[in-house]
Amino acid sequence: MAYQLISVLRDTEDPRLVVVSLKRPDVKNAINRAMVAELTRAFDDLRDGGDAGCVILTGEGPDFAAGADIAELRERRALESLAAINSALFARIEGFAAPVIAAIRGYALGGGCELTLACDMRIASETAQFGQPEVNLGIIPAAGGTQRLPRIVGLGRAKELVLTGAIIDAQEALRIGLVNRVVPDSELMGASRKMALTILKKGPLAVRMAKAALNQSARMSLDSGLAFESTAQALLFESDDKMKRMTDFLQKKKK
Ligand code: COA
Repeated sequence: MAYQLISVLRDTEDPRLVVVSLKRPDVKNAINRAMVAELTRAFDDLRDGGDAGCVILTGEGPDFAAGADIAELRERRALESLAAINSALFARIEGFAAPVIAAIRGYALGGGCELTLACDMRIASETAQFGQPEVNLGIIPAAGGTQRLPRIVGLGRAKELVLTGAIIDAQEALRIGLVNRVVPDSELMGASRKMALTILKKGPLAVRMAKAALNQSARMSLDSGLAFESTAQALLFESDDKMKRMTDFLQKKKK
């Protein structure tokens, strides 16, 4: 079934790179239930296909996403809230086997900001603006904002953003470690693609194991995390890819 509110495109040079774009530019890509359903389907299809080595998640038009759709939120009551519609999607993206890079221009607010937090890396255009303004609306960021944000920028900075609802620009986001880098707007997709293609040159199993182990660092005790890391490494030592890469390295040295 075709998508209405997102697009999913394979890179022409390397089809293992997939660009997923949010497409509701008339409402600044506000994330509604229908868009969440399409994104969920897209990531499930990519997971089932198994060949996506890196995903770039971005917004069509001048913005990434100005939050969850406030028209829907206004009607939402506790029972529907507990269905955790957005959080379930964001957890899927965080747990997606291959890396996901958020390429952000314009507004990334509320659920839009939380969506970027579920990605592995964030590359911002100079136009990007970030914030968790939910308290303005009498709610809290509840699709990971109170949990992932402090893990990325630290508790004090997360508290300032969440409790004041402040909107910060790309340079401030870089300063506090919310984004990995800031680039001119015209270079946003180029820089994101460059990072993705760099990752795609690496050992595919190693990249997936590294992401899984890094994700566990926020969940497990140090001892359990180290045991996970060590088990992941043991599996990699048995892989054909590791044998080939190390053999290639040693043979090149001999020439
Ligand atoms: N949900 C639904 N619609 C949204 C939206 C959201 N989160 N964010 C923007 N829109 C809609 C606006 O209602 C407007 O629709 P209209 O043209 O039918 O009136 C359209 O997108 C353009 O937004 P507008 O507010 O006119 O643009 P602006 O440049 O004046 O302001 C923002 C931009 C981002 C500052 C402002 O739209 C805003 O504050 N959005 C909500 C941010 C937010 O609180 N997000 C957290 C939600 S949990």
